[in-house]
Amino acid sequence: MPDSFESEWKAQLEGLGRASRRRTLRSVEWRTAREIAIGERILLHFASNDYLGLSTHPKVIEAARAALDAHGAGSGASRLVSGNLELYRALESRLARVKNTEAALVFPSGYHANLGLIPALAGAEDTLIVDRLAHASLVDGARLARARLQVFPHNDPGQLERILDRSATGKRIVLTESVFSMDGDVAPVESLLAVCEAHNALLIVDDAHGFGVLGPGGRGVQETLSRTSSHLIVMGTLSKAMGALGGYVCGSQALIDFLINRARTVIYTTALPPATLASARAALEVLYQSDEGSEIVQRLQHNIQFVCSGLKTKGYPVNDPPTAILPLIVGPDDVALQLAERLYEQGIFAPAIRPPTVPAGTARIRISLSALHERQDLERLLDCLPEQNSILS
Ligand SMILES: Cc1ncc(COP(=O)(O)O)c(C=O)c1O
Repeated sequence: MPDSFESEWKAQLEGLGRASRRRTLRSVEWRTAREIAIGERILLHFASNDYLGLSTHPKVIEAARAALDAHGAGSGASRLVSGNLELYRALESRLARVKNTEAALVFPSGYHANLGLIPALAGAEDTLIVDRLAHASLVDGARLARARLQVFPHNDPGQLERILDRSATGKRIVLTESVFSMDGDVAPVESLLAVCEAHNALLIVDDAHGFGVLGPGGRGVQETLSRTSSHLIVMGTLSKAMGALGGYVCGSQALIDFLINRARTVIYTTALPPATLASARAALEVLYQSDEGSEIVQRLQHNIQFVCSGLKTKGYPVNDPPTAILPLIVGPDDVALQLAERLYEQGIFAPAIRPPTVPAGTARIRISLSALHERQDLERLLDCLPEQNSILS
């Protein structure tokens, strides 16, 4: 490797270090959605998106084991090349049923889903309008599409309408999240959809953090809407509340057939491992086809309510409605790092989130809750958190 490359990388890393923005990988011995073992210590885990604890559910593990025994570890080729396993078909039809759409398509990850979906639907003649706080995968999908890119103020249907009123011809597609990954707030999807319908625009909602969490049954964003719409496409991931891996798009059969022919992140990549497909399907079955499923969803909701009322008492602002993601915004990067370190010392694992993941000046501790957390875990978390007004003093 030429010296000039190495020295530039090192200089950039030093700059990140000076700005408290250098990222490193932390070794972990094992973890569940409740606890995490680091070295000799076991800490309470508040950094997982496994909101329902399904990644370690016995039925999910059993299904993965059986698929591993039956089909081996890997998939060998793209689904279009070496054939589509029955496990894929079963998973996609269950997903479509849960999401109340005609069909569904599974991608290797949520990131791949956005990178495949958006460029398949939009090109250079079209306009993509993205929420200011949208996830990197939506932004990267939009960049890959090479369409005109516009940004609308966070969760603001009125401003979106103004942009749509002024935007040029060509297809217009609006991109947002149902639950924002770093803020935990819920998008006004019904209002955004009405604006899109009135302007003949398409709305893509990323339900990554809504699936398993939103709606009385935890079915995600669709359960919060009063109607279905041909102007709405919902995508999401099986890697968070479903405890497995794999992105998905739900919609009409025509959309799914189109994506099988046009989404490059399905066509030019190897199929997911059989054990992953089986575990995702088992997670859907536990959640939406058993009595246990609604108990799990309710347990998470109780945990959210309990922690939110404790946070309010300590002076922290709380989203309305709250979700499993609770951001404690502290501002400066170094203050967020210090708070994360203090929590770590007290046995609480909840890392600092810094720019560029969040806007400059809004570094935070991102607490994520799981149905696996027990009451004493949540009390411990609240005991360890300082009063909001003492953080910067
Ligand atoms: C809103 C959002 N969309 C998409 C993704 C990507 O999903 P995955 O982790 O399955 O690639 C994430 C997760 O990081 C996310 O938070």
